[in-house]
Amino acid sequence: MGAQGLTSPDLNSDDALNALRAAIGANLSAAVDLPPPVPMSLRSAVSYALLGPSKRVRPVIVHLIAVGLSKIDPVAIQVGAAVEMVHTASLILDDLPCMDDAATRRQRPTTHRVYGEATAILASIALLNRAFGVLAALDIPDPSIRLRLIEILENSVGWHGLVAGQELDILGNVDGDRASAEHLNWLKTGVLFCAAAEMGGILRGLEADKLAHVRDFARELGLAFQMADDIIDRTATQQDAGKDVGKDAGKSNVVNLLGLEASKQACAEHLGRADNSLVLSGIDPAPVRALINRHFNPSITA
Ligand code: IPE
Ligand code: IPE
Ligand code: MG
Ligand code: MG
Ligand code: MG
Repeated sequence: MGAQGLTSPDLNSDDALNALRAAIGANLSAAVDLPPPVPMSLRSAVSYALLGPSKRVRPVIVHLIAVGLSKIDPVAIQVGAAVEMVHTASLILDDLPCMDDAATRRQRPTTHRVYGEATAILASIALLNRAFGVLAALDIPDPSIRLRLIEILENSVGWHGLVAGQELDILGNVDGDRASAEHLNWLKTGVLFCAAAEMGGILRGLEADKLAHVRDFARELGLAFQMADDIIDRTATQQDAGKDVGKDAGKSNVVNLLGLEASKQACAEHLGRADNSLVLSGIDPAPVRALINRHFNPSITA
């Protein structure tokens, strides 16, 4: 499982990924260091959810596609922060009793278990809203780029994206086949991955044809990521996963439909297609391969 076979781990990339993740964490921390009159409970719930130990895969993808690992770029970090805020908002909602009813997230009790459901929902809305504020305030000279980024993020959350996927997940995979399960994975996870990579590609100034390859890359990566997550749900302990496991029992997700071994194979195939598209985009694949080596093995979760 993972991208072994595509590449071997690169220790320099690994150090640089750690530095990038630290820069992302510091930026997120500053972004939610909100002055009064934000009520303490809300401020605290937002920080708790956002700053818990996370892989930060989506903001890392924004940065890797925008500039790679050779330097830390403040604009790419901010765009990544917006994506991470959307992602965290979705996790808060995903964990609620009316959704997955989860007790643990990011190695800690879920936000609603600590702050109550009402404050958790409001913290999710606050983060979602803040994400668009971050994009609107980006320090880039061309306002049309800002608007493009805002539009892409809006699309990824909306009814062509994440919330549609979550609704389908709650309804259950009514068709019960692999194509429907993959479509659900695309909506609930792939679209935000695609948005992250596309926003990175726009910051890099990629032309439309290269941007299309970046989108193809991220679509396959997102599908692999959700499949790996579903494998973790079946195989990891809560302690290793840092979140509840066994939540997908009885669901017609890809892993339950195909079985574990075929799912690992299918995940590797998605990663292979992701790698091909990345190469076609002309972006140095080495840093992305390092990220994949680190996080797309279901036994490694944090
Ligand atoms: C969990 O996302 C939800 C999925 C889409 C699978 P991550 O596995 O990226 O969670 P964090 O951000 O590292 O906590
Ligand atoms: C959720 O998928 C994807 C989101 C959009 C939040 P899961 O329900 O499988 O995510 P985890 O396993 O709780 O992180
Ligand atoms: Mg869920
Ligand atoms: Mg869940
Ligand atoms: Mg899961």
